Amino acid sequence: MATALTPVLTRYWDQKDSYTVAGYERNGGYKGLRKALDMAPDDVIEQIKASGLRGRGGAGFPTGLKWSFVPQGDDKPHYLVVNADESEPGACKDIPLMLASPQQLIEGMIIASYAIRANHAFVYIRGEVPHVIRRMHAAVRDAKANGYLGKNILGSGFDLEIVVHGGAGAYICGEETALLDSLEGRRGQPRLKPPFPAVAGLYASPTVVNNVETISMTSQIMRYGAEWYSSFGSEKSPGIKVFAVSGHVKRPGIYEAPLGITMRELLDYAGGIREGHKLKFWVVGGSSVPMLTEDHLDAPLTYEGMEEVGTMLGTATPMVFDDTVSVVRAITGWLDFYKHESCGKCTPCREGTWWIDQLLHRFKDGEGKPEELDLLNELCGNILGRSFCALGDAAATPYPQALKLFPQEFEAGIHTPANEAFDPMASVVFPGVKTS
Ligand SMILES: Cc1cc2nc3c(=O)[nH]c(=O)nc-3n(C[C@H](O)[C@H](O)[C@H](O)COP(=O)(O)O)c2cc1C
Ligand code: SF4
Repeated sequence: MATALTPVLTRYWDQKDSYTVAGYERNGGYKGLRKALDMAPDDVIEQIKASGLRGRGGAGFPTGLKWSFVPQGDDKPHYLVVNADESEPGACKDIPLMLASPQQLIEGMIIASYAIRANHAFVYIRGEVPHVIRRMHAAVRDAKANGYLGKNILGSGFDLEIVVHGGAGAYICGEETALLDSLEGRRGQPRLKPPFPAVAGLYASPTVVNNVETISMTSQIMRYGAEWYSSFGSEKSPGIKVFAVSGHVKRPGIYEAPLGITMRELLDYAGGIREGHKLKFWVVGGSSVPMLTEDHLDAPLTYEGMEEVGTMLGTATPMVFDDTVSVVRAITGWLDFYKHESCGKCTPCREGTWWIDQLLHRFKDGEGKPEELDLLNELCGNILGRSFCALGDAAATPYPQALKLFPQEFEAGIHTPANEAFDPMASVVFPGVKTS
């Protein structure tokens, strides 16, 4: 039987006032918060632990466990920071979540802040989306006007202020410690870990950094209970996930479903591959994870299921590529991105991304040399696991898998430009939009 779509975070997106307090309350919004405020903060953490919720920013770290790392009775201020930098190529779930249901995120933020005893919380939003930043500012004002923020929330004695902060548009500022540096007003570069943010984060105080989807879901878990949530998905990957499907499908979009749904099922929901073409490859977790092919369509989309087929669930925002796409051209585009976004702090990534990109361009232009195929593998091997943060690993990931799955395309790159073998205009998703 096909896995049914299960809209929870996205359930009321079609209502035109879904982003207001009034619209949110009409659909039962803020019920989870009322329940949480009746409980002791530690019991709220226990509920989130029991639900099995794992972080949706990519790494899948258990959320309740992260909250429990925040030391108590330490006389320091505590902070909650929501990571809304969403810059991973292919990822588009946090931005629509903030646009259509910002109150759900704010409810989750109050719950999380209450649990970790924070009186100040921040939302760090990527700079390229001013409309989302405006929506979040308005949502915070709306929540405050309705007694959900400020002093003595709902008469509980708990106080919380939320600051909405627009970043300047750097992928690295999604890495949690670079984000904290940026939020403090410095150039966003990753910090050495440990200490982890839960112990020394924003302004050297205990800080929880969580993704937009993670925090949004805590409001629903508090409303419906940990047992409800963990009844979906698998033992290691409980719950429901927002899958954002993009690329060469008939109906790209957001599909919310229990973890464990397969890509074949998601493709069905998305109307299948566009007319007259067939699937060539897909990337499940943003461009930073190894690509897969048709052979992997029946693997369950869970953390462990994706590990079994040699990739990572990551952000669970599958990009789908059909037979018009040159693999060499696609991954060269990704490396252009990683090279540009490398923060320059560590040598393997700062230098290596330029080297990989330069060599890939040679194959894209039909000017590669046979020995450079191995050289590229060696370069990637020298970056993977040797960089200061995961951006370097991400940059070293696409090539080895692409070569393994499509060696003939790289061999062709020794004499034929990718644009000759694959007309770039044939891959255009929206007519009128040019590709490189
Ligand atoms: C280069 C890089 C970019 C990242 N970008 C994001 C991002 O945009 N949003 C996000 O939630 N996590 C991002 N992460 C992961 C965060 O460092 C962190 O793990 C996450 O915010 C934790 O939240 P979670 O536990 O709810 O997943 C990024 C990591 C790296 C290395
Ligand atoms: S891996 Fe890249 S992005 Fe990360 S610290 Fe090193 S240079 Fe910066």
